[in-house]
Amino acid sequence: MVDRNGWGRERPAPTGAPRSPPAAFVEQANVTDEEIYEAFDENWPACWERAAELLTWNEPYDTVLEAEDAPFYRWFTGGTLNASYNCLDRHLEAGRKTHTAIRWEGKRGERETYTYRDLYVEVNELAAALRALGVGEDDAVTIYLPMIPELPIAMLACARIGAPHSVVFAGLSSEALATRMDAAESEYLITCDGYYRRGDAFNQKAKTDNARIALEQDVQTIVVDRLGDDLPHVLGENERDYDDFREAFEGETVEPVPRDAEDMLFLMYTSGTTGQPKGVVHSTGGYLAHVAWTSHAVLDVKPEDTYWCAADIGWITGHSYIVYGPLALGTTTVMYEGTPDYPDRGRLWEIVDRNAVDVFYTAPTAIRAFMKWGEEFPEGYDLSSLRLLGSVGEPISSRPWRWYHEHIGNEECPIVDTWWQTETGAITVSTLPGIDEMKPGAAGPALPGTDARVVDDSGDEVGPDEAGYLVLARPWPGMARTLYDGDDRFVAEYWRRFSDPGDDRWWYESGDAARIDADGYITILGRVDDVINASGHRLSTMEIESAITNVDGVAEAAVVGRSNATAETEIYAYVSTDGHNDPDAAIREAIVENVEATIGPIARPEQVIFTPELPKTRSGKIMRRLLEDVANGEELGDTSALRNPEIVGEIQAEIFGADAVDE
Ligand code: WTA
Repeated sequence: MVDRNGWGRERPAPTGAPRSPPAAFVEQANVTDEEIYEAFDENWPACWERAAELLTWNEPYDTVLEAEDAPFYRWFTGGTLNASYNCLDRHLEAGRKTHTAIRWEGKRGERETYTYRDLYVEVNELAAALRALGVGEDDAVTIYLPMIPELPIAMLACARIGAPHSVVFAGLSSEALATRMDAAESEYLITCDGYYRRGDAFNQKAKTDNARIALEQDVQTIVVDRLGDDLPHVLGENERDYDDFREAFEGETVEPVPRDAEDMLFLMYTSGTTGQPKGVVHSTGGYLAHVAWTSHAVLDVKPEDTYWCAADIGWITGHSYIVYGPLALGTTTVMYEGTPDYPDRGRLWEIVDRNAVDVFYTAPTAIRAFMKWGEEFPEGYDLSSLRLLGSVGEPISSRPWRWYHEHIGNEECPIVDTWWQTETGAITVSTLPGIDEMKPGAAGPALPGTDARVVDDSGDEVGPDEAGYLVLARPWPGMARTLYDGDDRFVAEYWRRFSDPGDDRWWYESGDAARIDADGYITILGRVDDVINASGHRLSTMEIESAITNVDGVAEAAVVGRSNATAETEIYAYVSTDGHNDPDAAIREAIVENVEATIGPIARPEQVIFTPELPKTRSGKIMRRLLEDVANGEELGDTSALRNPEIVGEIQAEIFGADAVDE
């Protein structure tokens, strides 16, 4: 079955000899015990106590894993804890109150430092204010903020009073915000007046106002004044200024609410294979244990480190590895508001240099951009503080891997290529940097205690190096507990295809294709469902398609990912217009505008290709896979079984005739 589906066309086998982790790194690594894989295997699931031990529990748990209601697994049952206590109070109690918790780097060069004590004070005041506003345990609070300190503060304040947060990426549209607030029945919103985009003041409050108009429920809103005089704003009914709101509770503290290990810590909406985003539910105990453990074992974070995950907290990577993981371990976490190229292309390296960052974690899309810009930018800075580098979000092929290793890590830092998902909550596949060899291009083995396998269409395991579907054959603590939209959708999306309930076999379907080599190293080949990973943002083709077909004059649309010359995934939209409308620049513009308005600029199609019809099977199914091959300039197989084979040639002419090809 290898590559019959076109999987892995961009993914050659890892090249070059495996590299051992440098001795200097191993000497100081958090986890160096080679027996750990076997030990976790033999002692499963009790092995996961090692993760739970990194936390402070109010009530100890009595059972590590309850599997009776699989796939609704329950971890560390009977235990109670509070995530904000684990990220704050316990570090104060350990005498580390003056230790830096957050180093914030603003877009305009502003800098702020929060000690654990500062963070504790502000989180408590906000928690007291939220409670006084009426936020109770289990009330979902939506947070729609850019990368400013108030974002993690709001998350921790919610966690303190047992209110699940639902963070919506600040770049998403007002419509996307409204859909998520509606789905979560959320009556509280923390947002801001605006933020700077490449130096300009951008009005976030206007987006929030539009979303509120679309909602049936009354929404209590708290507005952070990020821009001051650069963007004056007026507060309306049910709106409060963040500073006034919090300062009314100056100096107050709130007892952290003990939460059951299985209680929801947060909700995170992510794109699935339908137009409706999925509300992934994460637990308090299992999630926090898993993110703390992987921050310790994979990212090698130590309390005295300055650690930087250059992601956005609006997505899962930022939740797990800017906020909860590093703060649970009591380290210093860097938070950067800006982009890598503003005010210049050396910006990130300047931050690494000035803060003496020890561990740096980013996405391949950024690494490919650094490579394109050239090594002169990092060369201008002292990066010798770096000890470990990480990659997440997309496959990193061996060339950018080597560039990262050489020009950022000076060949002295191991690289962890970490595979995981919103649904897995925390890193699931990666080398352990103090133990395992690295194979550039392959993520690594499944973590100790997890079981990743590759199967074919019928769910049978394939041989080494053969492509197939990546499944997880054992539960893990950070796993999503359900979808907020319902248990049925949870089972249908992840647990139906490769499970066999009669045999009590529950295999989680990741939606990714992969290969596993004879050493157990996993190479990820990309999504096999209708999800596109573009510049590290996870988007649903159906969501984009429905934004396109909502434009007047559009009949049908199909959206695919195209890998460009630098292996970036771009969005290509194939569109046919209805009988009354000829394709023209106005429709093209309306399409792009509507995608931006419905989802956000991150979903903007790179190319809109008009075609009289979309290629379809005889039963009328749009051939997306074929359209993807066309966009990627692949050899096409036999298309004679299509209802309208002649259309394929027309589309190819349209694309390659226009200046759609890179360079
Ligand atoms: C992809 C982000 C290759 C994958 C944490 C997955 C990766 C999706 C890697 C989840 C990696 C993540 N190598 N592909 N190291 N890490 N992916 O939910 O397709 O935003 O299914 O979570 O990103 O994206 P999500």
